[in-house]
Amino acid sequence: MNKICKSFPLEIGGVQQVLFDITFNIQAGEFVAIMGPSGSGKSTCMNIVGALDTPTSGTYELYGQNISNMTSDDLARARNEHIGFVFQNFNLLPKRNVLDNVMLPLMYRGMSPEERIRRSREMLHRVGLENFETYLPTQLSGGMKQRVAIARALAGEPKLILADEPTGALDSKMGNEILKFFKELNKDLGITIVMITHEFDIARYANRLIHIYDGRINYDGPIPASEAVLVKKTNKGQK
Ligand SMILES: Nc1ncnc2c1ncn2[C@@H]1O[C@H](COP(=O)(O)OP(=O)(O)OP(=O)(O)O)[C@@H](O)[C@H]1O
Ligand SMILES: [Mg+2]
Repeated sequence: MNKICKSFPLEIGGVQQVLFDITFNIQAGEFVAIMGPSGSGKSTCMNIVGALDTPTSGTYELYGQNISNMTSDDLARARNEHIGFVFQNFNLLPKRNVLDNVMLPLMYRGMSPEERIRRSREMLHRVGLENFETYLPTQLSGGMKQRVAIARALAGEPKLILADEPTGALDSKMGNEILKFFKELNKDLGITIVMITHEFDIARYANRLIHIYDGRINYDGPIPASEAVLVKKTNKGQK
């Protein structure tokens, strides 16, 4: 990601610039946390990392493909091939059972139904929900729903998992469970993880922290010993 800028058109005319010269590279196998105040541009940045959106200027390569000028079809293909998404609100289909939800991303893979079911069951087993296949999302706790979402993300065998506040809707016990799970996926399967969070204690599970402030990178490095480093930098930025 090199010198990424992103602007959105404003209804009253003109544009609002949200990201300014964002440059970073993420290597395979990293576990990166993105922090920053509300409105600082974290989700906008992650949408570009996840090929859900393209930058206004600058270049971004996802596994060797320059996505900056791709059509929406090409973007969809790149996403489906490489990335698993996990969101704060789980984004499960409420009327489909757990197994159907996990199988969903495999629909676009040209895989036989048997293979789709086999693989989805394997993923549900991995997240400890093998006995909940036929449950509807409304019958599950928040932590279980997020585990279904993770199984769904994993079913496509992604190299990269992008998580936008994955524990934002969970209490701290369930949140920690999800984080331990991410840590395991990162360590044992070598899956690259990029996670947005508001909480430093959650960011600590990662190996690298990128702090965004007002659309600019304020800190990029190993997890600091305390959050104070970020606050100090932020204050300096504010003047
Ligand atoms: N699609 C869009 N159209 C117009 N403006 C947008 C769009 N997406 C984001 N913005 C604006 O960009 C800015 C940054 O939003 P973004 O969602 O990236 O912040 P964030 O850091 O993820 O905040 P939060 O912590 O609240 O989720 C905000 O001012 C928002 O209004
Ligand atoms: Mg956000």
